[in-house]
Amino acid sequence: MEILRDIQALRAWREAREGEGKRVGFVPTMGNLHAGHMALIDNARRRADAVIASVFVNPLQFEDPEDLARYPRTEDDDIAALEKAGVDAVFLPTETVLYPHGQDDIARVDPGSLGTRLEGSVRPGHFTGVATVVTKLFNLVRPQVAVFGEKDAQQVAVIRRLVGDLDIDVQLAIEPTHREPDGLAISSRNRFLTAEQRRQAPAVHRALKRAAESLAGGHTVAATLAGARHWLAQQGFEVDYLVYCDEVRFEEQTRLVPEGRLLVAARLGRVRLIDNLAVHTPQAEESAD
Ligand code: PAF
Repeated sequence: MEILRDIQALRAWREAREGEGKRVGFVPTMGNLHAGHMALIDNARRRADAVIASVFVNPLQFEDPEDLARYPRTEDDDIAALEKAGVDAVFLPTETVLYPHGQDDIARVDPGSLGTRLEGSVRPGHFTGVATVVTKLFNLVRPQVAVFGEKDAQQVAVIRRLVGDLDIDVQLAIEPTHREPDGLAISSRNRFLTAEQRRQAPAVHRALKRAAESLAGGHTVAATLAGARHWLAQQGFEVDYLVYCDEVRFEEQTRLVPEGRLLVAARLGRVRLIDNLAVHTPQAEESAD
């Protein structure tokens, strides 16, 4: 596996793959790799001849400096895991490599109103930071296919919007959320849970499943969401949001839509967990006819 730390090396690697006529698959990450990331890599390997990952904790998408400071950085382990997974190259830029003019007064990519809802309202500027770094990485890597995880469903929608509105020539592949046997979505943030919080954490996924069942059982969206928020609070969570949205604009819906999604963000102490579940109910399909 080639380790590429600057733009020149990355461009040279990319040009060599072009010369070989290889289809390049890309998996952007912020490191601290876990089974969920490995599934993204496997997905890319199925779709491409050469796979490159990036590991970069992007300061532009952190609105809270403390959150940025304590984000786990595990470069040696990440390199070993990528090598083992058969990745062909890893791009490991520093902040100076990606933001040589600092971060204060640079051109940014605004993902529109989609980026201001839900995660974007709790974390203002987050999706502008994501859209900016992903655009930069796409311009540098020029992949034919890029793989993202469904766990960050709103991020996926932002990237779809970005690719569509800015005519970026890349195919997107979305890998389903990987879960622990008890349903907890695998995330780099899980390592911050205490033993007690780890026991509580699967309630996030359970709340979504209960809500999906409630909708399928004919309960109203309002009653379902109120019940789910109440239940999650009873399990010890502070709920940032638990909503039902359409899959494209991520606007909250009060009635079932053909392609809807339940999304939740909830805190256990200082650990913030997010999760989501697609809801495809027969009622919505009938009302869509
Ligand atoms: O999902 C992530 O890990 C990050 O948001 C991404 C896409 C690598 C951009 O920094």
